[in-house]
Amino acid sequence: MRIDILTLFPELFLGITENSIVKRAIDKNIANIQVHNIRDYTTNKHNKVDDSPYGGTAGMVMQIQPIADLIEKLKAERNYDEIIYTSPDGDVFKQSTANAMSLYDNIIILCGHYKGIDQRIRDIYITKEISIGDYVLTGGELAAAVITDSIVRLIPGVISDIESALSDSFQDNLLAPPVYTRPADYKGFKVPDVLRSGNHKEIAKWEMEQALKKTKKLRPDLLKNNYDK
Ligand code: ADE
Repeated sequence: MRIDILTLFPELFLGITENSIVKRAIDKNIANIQVHNIRDYTTNKHNKVDDSPYGGTAGMVMQIQPIADLIEKLKAERNYDEIIYTSPDGDVFKQSTANAMSLYDNIIILCGHYKGIDQRIRDIYITKEISIGDYVLTGGELAAAVITDSIVRLIPGVISDIESALSDSFQDNLLAPPVYTRPADYKGFKVPDVLRSGNHKEIAKWEMEQALKKTKKLRPDLLKNNYDK
């Protein structure tokens, strides 16, 4: 899968592309993440990429030209399944969105900054707007990093034990059950006996009960979603 990220702040992506699971996916050629600096595409002789908004409101708006030229260049090179804009206006990102997007071949994620981008970019090019929650970030970069991370870990072959992605919180609208590792007894705090029993059927039953109990207590709204489906 190829993800092209369009941003004014490419350095913000080093945190995910140079560490942990996303780095491993890149090294294994399972994910190809290309981060493009929008400023490199401006034709303005002072390298300007933004201007004040028509109508006189405060702040700056990212201009069409560099973004449009960059998107046109990428679209001429390959077909994209989706051109995404990260924005608080978008559909709220969920595990189900990540699952669907992990099957795509090529996507573009455009990160907004300042007061946002010229509306005409959204009208002409954007096929999907995604918000990562009901709060406002200084820009779309952290949202794009969150989306990229959650999609890449779902691509087959990225996490060696596919079970581990399938048993995540939210995959069945359930929070994940508690997990334990050695030692079995830490200062009298013991690992539940069933997990050390070797009885896989009993362990699976216990995990499901714990997941349900935890979800009922912490996120009862998720269980309601199961019935709404
Ligand atoms: N840009 C600014 N705030 C955002 C949010 N909550 N989600 C996605 N992109 C954003």
